[in-house]
Amino acid sequence: MQQKAALNPDAHWMDLAMRLSWFTAPTQALNTSGLWFEGGKLNACYNAVDRHLEMRGDQLALIWQGEAADEKRELTYRALHQEVCRMANVLLQCGVKEGDRVAIHLPAIAEGVIAMLACARIGAIHVVLFGGFSAEAIADRIADADAKLIITADVGRRGPKRVPFKKTIDAALTHLSPDQVETILVMSVTHEDVPMQEGRDHLLAPLITAAPDTLPCVTRDANDPLFLLYTSGSTGKPKGIVHGTGGYLTWASFTQNVVFDHREGDVFWCTADLGWITGHSYVAYGPLCNGGTILIYEGMPSYPDPGQWWRVIEKYRVTSFYTSPTAIRALMREGDDVPGASDLNSLRVLGSVGEPISREAWEWFYRVIGRNRCHLVDTWWQTETGGIMISPVPGIIEGEPSAATLPLPGIDAVLLGPDGQECENEAEGVLCMRRPWPGRALSIWRNDELFQKIYLAPYPGYYFTGDGARRDGNGHYWITGRVDDVINVSGHRIGSAEIEDVLADDRDIAECAAIGIPHSLKGQAVVVFIVPKNATRADMLPEHARQIVSRRIGRYAVPEHIYVVDDLPKTRSGKNVRRLLRKIASGEKEGFGDLSTLSDPDCIERLLDATPM
Ligand code: PRX
Repeated sequence: MQQKAALNPDAHWMDLAMRLSWFTAPTQALNTSGLWFEGGKLNACYNAVDRHLEMRGDQLALIWQGEAADEKRELTYRALHQEVCRMANVLLQCGVKEGDRVAIHLPAIAEGVIAMLACARIGAIHVVLFGGFSAEAIADRIADADAKLIITADVGRRGPKRVPFKKTIDAALTHLSPDQVETILVMSVTHEDVPMQEGRDHLLAPLITAAPDTLPCVTRDANDPLFLLYTSGSTGKPKGIVHGTGGYLTWASFTQNVVFDHREGDVFWCTADLGWITGHSYVAYGPLCNGGTILIYEGMPSYPDPGQWWRVIEKYRVTSFYTSPTAIRALMREGDDVPGASDLNSLRVLGSVGEPISREAWEWFYRVIGRNRCHLVDTWWQTETGGIMISPVPGIIEGEPSAATLPLPGIDAVLLGPDGQECENEAEGVLCMRRPWPGRALSIWRNDELFQKIYLAPYPGYYFTGDGARRDGNGHYWITGRVDDVINVSGHRIGSAEIEDVLADDRDIAECAAIGIPHSLKGQAVVVFIVPKNATRADMLPEHARQIVSRRIGRYAVPEHIYVVDDLPKTRSGKNVRRLLRKIASGEKEGFGDLSTLSDPDCIERLLDATPM
C-alpha cells in the first residue's frame, strides 16, 4: 500500500474511498480545486449503520455501560438504525433542514452517537460541545455556528459529581440573542427536575418513542460539511473546524481499520469524550463504518474504584482499547495489582492519543495492560487532520516507547528547518504535510481566509501542524510537542491567547501571559503571570482569575499556578518572552541566556522572587 500510495497516489486514495458505500461513486480523488472525491454522493449515517443491516443486523453495534453494573444498554445494528431514524424524525419534526447546524451537549450516553448519526442522516451539520465547557464557551460556539436547536440532557454524572447540562445550556442562552435558539431537546438521564421553557424545551424520550423508526438517508455531496468541531489555536477564539463527508469518512474508516487491525467481532472501546475529534472518528464514525461493536462508558476511570475500567474490559471482552496518556498515568499510579485482578486476555490492540506518552507510561501500558502481547499504537493526529496520520501498524510497524513511528500510506510528512527548508534524514524540525490527504478539514466555519492563514500560509506548499518532531535513523517520527502557544492539559487543547484574552478583559488586570509547564499527571499545566492594575487588590487576584477562566472557558483550563508580578519580560518591541516565563515557572533559577534584547533585563530578578499562588 505504501508503494502504491507513492507511485500512484490517486489510485491509492480511490481504493480507500471505495471502502465506503457511495450512492454515486466519485471518479477522481483530488481535483484541481483541491476538493476530494468531487461528484461522489453518499451519506455518513448510511455508511455507519444502514450498509450493515443486511450482513450484521443482529450484531451488536453499540454497548453503553454506566457506573453501576446493571446500568447498560445494548443496541444491535438493527436497533441502532431504528433509534437513529426515530431521532432523525424528531429533528425533522422540529424543523431542522439539510445544512442546519445542530448543537449536541450530552454526557457519555448512547444518545450522543445516535444524535450525531441522526444529523448525518438528514444532512444537518452536528456541532458537539464538550461537557466541560462553561456556559459562556458554549454560547460563543452556538453563536458562531448559528445553531437553532440543541440536544442536551437534564443532568450528567461524573463519578460522585452531578453535572448540570440543562442549567449550563440555560445559562449559555442568557449570553445569546433571544431568537438564536428555537428548540432544546432534553434527554432525561437522572430524571431530576430541570427548568423547562414552554414552547422551546421538550423532553426527548417521549418524542423519540412516538416517532417513526424508518427514514431514508438524504444524499450528500462528498464535500458537504458533516460536522463542525471547535478547537483552540495559538491566537484568537476557538475555531469551528469543518469536516466534509466523503474525505473525512474515507479517512476515519480506513485509519480505524488499519491502525487497530480491525477484525470481525471486535469490541472497540475508545474512552474519548464525543466532544473531541477522537470521539467523532474513533468512538463513532470509524468503528461503525467498519461494522465494529463500539463501547461507550459513562464514568471516570477511578470511580468507584480504580479497577472499574479493567472490569469493563473483562465484562465485554474488549479487543481494542484506545485512551489518553493522562488516563494511563492516573491508572498507573494505582499499582499493577488493580488491573491484575481482571482478565484482560481479550485485548489485542492498545492505543494512545492526544499528548506525548512517556517511556514509563508506554511500558506500563504495554506490560501491565497488554500483558506483553498486545500491539501498542501511539497515534499522532489532530482535530484538523480528521484521523490518525502517524502511527505504528500492528504486525507491520511495531510501536516503540514514545515514538509515533511512520506516516500511514499516502501521508507525506516532512520536517522543516528554521529557514523553511525540508530536512533530510535524521533531523528535528516543524512537522508539516507536503501532499494533501482526504481527511484534512475543509476549512474554518465561514472563515476560509483564516484557515489559509493558520494552516497553509506559514509554509507555502505545506500544511502546518503546529507540532515539532524528530526523525530518527529509521525514519520514525517522535513528536516533541507544540511549537506554537497551544497548551495541552490532559489532552485538552487550550490556546494561551484564549486565557489571556478573557483575563485581559478584567478591570483589575493590566497585563497577563499564559504558558504551559510540564505536569506529572496532566502532561502540561497552565501557569499565568498577572500584572495587577491596582496593587492593593493583588491578593485577591489569583482566586478572581481562576473564577474568570472557569466561568468563561471551563474548569479544565483553570491555571494550576498564578504569579502576581509587577512586570512581564518583554522585548523592546513589546512582545512577551514566553520562553523566559516557562523557565521561571518550571523553577529554573539560571541559564536564561542573552537578556540584552529585553526592554528591562532586571525584571527577571524580580520575577524569580515571585511565589506562585
Ligand atoms: O500536539 C499534538 C497533540 O495533540 C494535538 C492535537 O490536539 P487535538 O486537535 O485536540 O486532537 C487530539 C486527538 C487527536 C497535536 O497537535 N497530540 C496528539 N496526538 C499525539 C500528540 N502529541 C504527541 N503524541 C501523540 N500521539
